[in-house]
Amino acid sequence: MAVTSVIGLQWGDEAKGKIVDLLTSRFDIVVRYQGGANAGHTVVVGDQVYKLHHIPSGILNRGVVNIVAPGVVLNPPTILKEIDSLLERGIPVAENLKISDRVHVVFPWHIAEDRAINAALVGGESIGTTLRGIGPCYRDKYGRSNAIRLGDMYRPDFREKVASIVALKSRLLSQLGDNEDLDAEAIYEEFSGYAERLRPYVAETTHYLHDALEAGKNVLFEGAQGSLLDIDHGTFPFVTSSNSSGVGVCGGSGVPPRWIQRVLGVAKAYTTRVGGGPFPTELHDETGQRIRDLGREYGTTTGRPRRCGWFDAVAVRYTVRLGGVDGLAIMMMDVLSHLPEINICVAYELNGQRIDRFPGHVDDLRLVKPILETLPGWQTDVSQVRRIEDFPAGARRYLDRVAELVGRPVDVVSVGPDREQTIFADSTL
Ligand code: IMP
Repeated sequence: MAVTSVIGLQWGDEAKGKIVDLLTSRFDIVVRYQGGANAGHTVVVGDQVYKLHHIPSGILNRGVVNIVAPGVVLNPPTILKEIDSLLERGIPVAENLKISDRVHVVFPWHIAEDRAINAALVGGESIGTTLRGIGPCYRDKYGRSNAIRLGDMYRPDFREKVASIVALKSRLLSQLGDNEDLDAEAIYEEFSGYAERLRPYVAETTHYLHDALEAGKNVLFEGAQGSLLDIDHGTFPFVTSSNSSGVGVCGGSGVPPRWIQRVLGVAKAYTTRVGGGPFPTELHDETGQRIRDLGREYGTTTGRPRRCGWFDAVAVRYTVRLGGVDGLAIMMMDVLSHLPEINICVAYELNGQRIDRFPGHVDDLRLVKPILETLPGWQTDVSQVRRIEDFPAGARRYLDRVAELVGRPVDVVSVGPDREQTIFADSTL
C-alpha cells in the first residue's frame, strides 16, 4: 500500500472518488493537491449520496486524515457547505480535515472574470469552463501580485489587500464589459467571516506530510479532473489550469517523486468530456445518447450533459505513460452491457497516415480520425458480478483488449455506483 496515487486518465469524471473512498480504509492520510471547486466527486454509501468538491473522499472513513494541499484553489463558501453537510450527517470533520494555509483563495472577482473571459472563443470554440473562477485564481497565483492565500486572510493587511485588488479588478472587469459591482469592504467582511469558520481546519500540511512519510504512514493522493485536462500535457487550451495528470502530485502536495510507490489510473470503459475541445471518439448518435442516459452522464458540478464516445486507447496509452501508471481501474462497465457491438479506438489517422501517439497540438487532434476495432457486446447485465471470472466472455475479452492496448493490467473493475459493485482483480490493492 504505502504511498499510492489515483489519477484520472481521460477528461475527468472517471469516478476517482469512488475508488479513493474504497481504498481509503487502508491508508492513514488522503491528499487532494490540485484543482478546486471545479471538481465534483460523488460517493454513494448505501442510500446516502455525498457530493464533494474540495474535501478528499477519504473523509467518509473515520480515522483517516484528509489534507487539502497547497496546489488546490479554495472556494471558502463551497468548502464550508461541504463541511456543514458532512457534519449534519454525523461525519466527524474537525479531527480529520487539514487545509494548507498555502492554498490560494477564489474570490468573487475570479468568478466574474471567468464569466467574462469564458465568453471569448479560442479557434471558434469556447473552453466551456465550470465558471468556478479556477483559471483566474491560478492566473493570479502565477502573476503573484494580486493573489491571496488562505494564510493571508489571518494577517493584519488582509483588508488592505482586498481593497487594492478590488480597485484593479473593477477596472479590468469593466473593460471586459462586466458590470459586476465589487464592494471591497463587503468582500472583506464576508471573507473574514469564512476565515473564522475555517480556522479550526487551517494547518501547515507540508511538514505534516513529510513527517508522516518518514514515520512510515500510508498516504493516498487523490487527483482531480483527468490527465487530458492537464495544463501542460493535456489538450491545450481546452484544459483546466492545473497539472491534473500524474505529474501534478508532487508540485501540488510538496511530496517529491521518490515517495510515490504505486499509481492507479482510473478510466471509464468508454470516454466522456464536458466543455469544449476535440474529442476524436465522440458519438453524436443514438449510441452516444444511450451511454449518456445509462451512465447518467451529467456533470456533478455544473449539471451539463457530458459528451460521450468510445474508449480511446491512444489517449489512455499516453496518459498512462505520463502518470507512470502501474494498473488500471475500469469504471462503468455496466453501462456498456446492452450494446450489441462495442468499439475501441486503437490508433488515429492523421493526413492519411496511421499514428499511434497522441498529438501535441489541438489542431491535429481536431483532424484525426479514430481507427476503431469492433468487439461483440455481451448484452448481459453485469451489475451483480463480483468476481472477474463471473463476467460474461465478451466483457472479459473487452477488458483484456483494453489492458493489451494500453499496456497495463486491469486491477479494478466497477459495475455500478455502490461500494459493493467493485471487483478487485489485484488483491494487493
Ligand atoms: P475550469 O477547470 O473550470 O477552468 O474548466 C476548464 C475545462 O475543464 C472545461 O472544459 C471543464 O468542463 C473541464 N473540467 C474542469 N473540472 C472538471 C472536472 O472535474 N471534470 C470534468 N471536466 C472538468
